[in-house]
Amino acid sequence: MRGIGTFCASSPSVDSASPTSHDRAMELAGKTALVTGSARRLGKAIALELASRGASIVVHYGSSEKAARETAADIEALGVSAWPVQADLRAPADIERLFDRIEELSRGLTVLVNNASSFESEPFLEIDVESWDKVLALNLRAPFLCIQRATAMMRAAGGGVIINIADRSAFEPWKKFAHHGTSKAALVQLTRAAAHELAPEVRVNCVVPGAILPPPGISESGEFWRKRGDVVPLGRTGAKGEVTAAVVFLACNEFITGAVLPVDGGEHLKAPRAVS
Ligand SMILES: NC(=O)c1ccc[n+]([C@@H]2O[C@H](COP(=O)([O-])OP(=O)(O)OC[C@H]3O[C@@H](n4cnc5c(N)ncnc54)[C@H](OP(=O)(O)O)[C@@H]3O)[C@@H](O)[C@H]2O)c1
Repeated sequence: MRGIGTFCASSPSVDSASPTSHDRAMELAGKTALVTGSARRLGKAIALELASRGASIVVHYGSSEKAARETAADIEALGVSAWPVQADLRAPADIERLFDRIEELSRGLTVLVNNASSFESEPFLEIDVESWDKVLALNLRAPFLCIQRATAMMRAAGGGVIINIADRSAFEPWKKFAHHGTSKAALVQLTRAAAHELAPEVRVNCVVPGAILPPPGISESGEFWRKRGDVVPLGRTGAKGEVTAAVVFLACNEFITGAVLPVDGGEHLKAPRAVS
């Protein structure tokens, strides 16, 4: 028997046989997913992975319009719809406009990935009110507001799943990232609060990537990034596909909610009390 909010055609079920590879390929056929910040980098990889499972994608972007159009073209080449939609997620009115637009474009929303984020670095004593508010507005308030609007759409469509993307700063106090780390730690707690309160129709999970993509300007094949991998217990940095696989797993396993899944080569083991 499947639970409320069933939508992944091949999700493991207590009364169904193993899915075929065709089922797996079309797990999300006919469904719509919103991936925030999906014009480029990790968000783009997540959007393409969900599209490869049959989902149509709302390619949300902030300022990367050209990249968003290219991502949408790549998604359409997979045979599903892609709608680039701009919104400054720091502005609640833009979030309202984004969801109003999704309601016009799609018959429903089944998957939300809260991926968009800043990565601001400032010494603790130099973080002023404006900078604190900017970071928390994007990394914490926006996911909260998106969850509220998405939940209404998901409940109307029979259920859905939300995946929040945090990082290790949620658990480790990185110097010069006090506002960022606080926002990501709160995103983890928001995941649990939402999972508890929005069940059973909506599941909410969190992926915590480790070192996957270097910041812009740093080469993936260079010395700096290789040395970054040396301090990871599994001895290397991660690949985008390892994060996208975790997103699909949490999206499609219908008995998991409130989970916080590190995809970090074991780096969370260095701060064992923080492991969830
Ligand atoms: N890269 C890694 O190795 C890594 C590791 C751990 C966790 N993560 C997490 O994974 C997610 C993606 O990482 P990433 O490195 O790919 O992220 P990123 O490139 O730093 O940013 C992702 C997107 O956020 C969007 N964004 C920024 N400000 C915005 C605003 N005000 N309104 C709307 N959108 C805005 C940007 O869209 P536009 O370009 O359109 O403006 C950008 O493409 C983040 O949540 C990050 O914390 C990444």
